Amino acid sequence: MKTCSIAIDGPSGAGKSTLAKALAARLGFLYVDTGAIYRTVGLYVARQGGDCAKEEDVLPCLETIQIAMAYGEDGLQHMVLNGEDVTADIRRNEVSRYASQVSPIPGVRAFLLEMQRAMAREHNVIMDGRDIGTVVLPDADVKIFLTASVEARAARRHKELVEKGQEISLEQVKEEIIQRDYADTHRAAAPLKQAVDAVVADTSHLDLEESLALLETIVKERLNR
Ligand code: DC
Repeated sequence: MKTCSIAIDGPSGAGKSTLAKALAARLGFLYVDTGAIYRTVGLYVARQGGDCAKEEDVLPCLETIQIAMAYGEDGLQHMVLNGEDVTADIRRNEVSRYASQVSPIPGVRAFLLEMQRAMAREHNVIMDGRDIGTVVLPDADVKIFLTASVEARAARRHKELVEKGQEISLEQVKEEIIQRDYADTHRAAAPLKQAVDAVVADTSHLDLEESLALLETIVKERLNR
């Protein structure tokens, strides 16, 4: 059976995961959060005492890491690291940094590529990340480049972290977002960039419902072509 895939790429904090998750529920597709996979690798390297920015520390960890994705009855993606559910741990702020350090390493990207493609071969998916429309699923049925201003993204991410009890200033979150944007767009391996055939969705001035309506319109329009 030919499966259908929707690729959503964009910078961090643009609302990719919230929107992709909601859209997947509406369409009955599986939501695959690829950032969570990079986060899991980063968490593992840090737990092993490695420096996530050093390839020589990271690559040996790939020999002992076992990553699995499990979908609970809630339909949510759980990340399982060597048998342990680390879904909550990977959302910590320092793990964002670890993920951003391990993700430019070509050996890490190659290691995770087939795992992501297999998900799309086996299921109808909405997959979000940085290189889904360009590298992982270049033949995706719909490609969306989801973005928003740095200010809007920082405000959203800050609210999310504070609600989880992390003490961090808006300024720091904004600074980290700027640094991560730079790192994501300037790395040599699979940098964040808009696929030529992607539709741009800017959510700076849209709330959740409005953003979701925009994405639904884009998807329906593309799938009905
Ligand atoms: O979307 P996120 O914040 O959970 O992503 C965490 C990090 O992983 C981020 O620095 C970018 C990187 N990433 C990537 O390089 N490629 C992907 N497909 C997804 C995420």
